[in-house]
Amino acid sequence: MEQRHVILDCDPGIDDSLAIMLALSSPELLVEGITVVCGNCPAEMGAGNARKVLRHLGRLDVPVFQGEERPLRREYVSALDTHGADGLGESFLPPADGPVQELGAVEFMARTIRARSEDGSGCSVIALGPMTNLARLIQRDPEAFSMIREIVSMGGNFRSHGNCSPVAEYNYWADPDAAALVYETAAALGKKIVMVGLDVTRQIVLTPDLLAYMKRLQPETGQFVQAITKFYYDFHWEWEHLIGCVINDPLAVAYFLDRSLCSGFEAYTAVETRGISIGQTVVDSMGFWKKPANALVLTHTDVLGFFRLFLSRILGRREEELDLLEQLISDRKKDENR
Ligand code: BDR
Ligand code: CA
Repeated sequence: MEQRHVILDCDPGIDDSLAIMLALSSPELLVEGITVVCGNCPAEMGAGNARKVLRHLGRLDVPVFQGEERPLRREYVSALDTHGADGLGESFLPPADGPVQELGAVEFMARTIRARSEDGSGCSVIALGPMTNLARLIQRDPEAFSMIREIVSMGGNFRSHGNCSPVAEYNYWADPDAAALVYETAAALGKKIVMVGLDVTRQIVLTPDLLAYMKRLQPETGQFVQAITKFYYDFHWEWEHLIGCVINDPLAVAYFLDRSLCSGFEAYTAVETRGISIGQTVVDSMGFWKKPANALVLTHTDVLGFFRLFLSRILGRREEELDLLEQLISDRKKDENR
């Protein structure tokens, strides 16, 4: 099987950790490295968390690179209120032995993207946090940025409301100037960013029943997921009156693996950098601006298909073995419609 080369650019972060687990249990992917940006937690903490997840997976061989410590222009605002004081759901897991790489995240991105472009394999970036590292890559080595095969970004929103302002999603809100630069540069290069925004990720709810099922099927992984998500469940109950937690980031990895899991439309998209709608994605779905599309905006997702992939991969089970999954997903749909 020919593997697709990727860099996971993230801010782990509870759902980022689940995304790392999915990527590293997927044989179709060759994860060149994990680059960390400030977002949910400071970059240093995020890099340490990435290594805690890698230790759990027995994959400390995957290099972790620390990246930007503050947004391009705005002041840094973490999401520790959502992800817990340690950024990993207050699981307070002990640090993993050994340091992160000395090379900075942006330099690593530039070198890897260039090398994979030169040998013909190509390298994509799955961006799961604020886009500051990618924006710095544009500023420092625009040619390397132009060589990225594909950018799949968890961020933004089209019809859905925001999650940190009425109209803005956290990753783009935390560094709107970076997100704006990435979308503008994609437009100039004739590329399209895949926008895995809240319209689709809000549908990916890890319910307590699904977690209990995971623990039955694979106790060690189930307990690890429980340890890092408990805080997230409490947060969702307190703020959204939701029994369960929205796990955004693994959907971006899942879509990278399987294009049938989401659908949407192509449109020119800009990111607001000022004022009360700072961080909002302005999606020109009606073509008012007559500009070529620079984004594929995902609007629909196959929730059952996602969980089939996600659970089978991280639990190391065959999809046919997930006999209760369909029932558990349809029970949630019934609850939602009540
Ligand atoms: C995004 O923000 C972060 O809190 C999550 O990790 C996810 O990447 C959702 O808005
Ligand atoms: Ca994230």
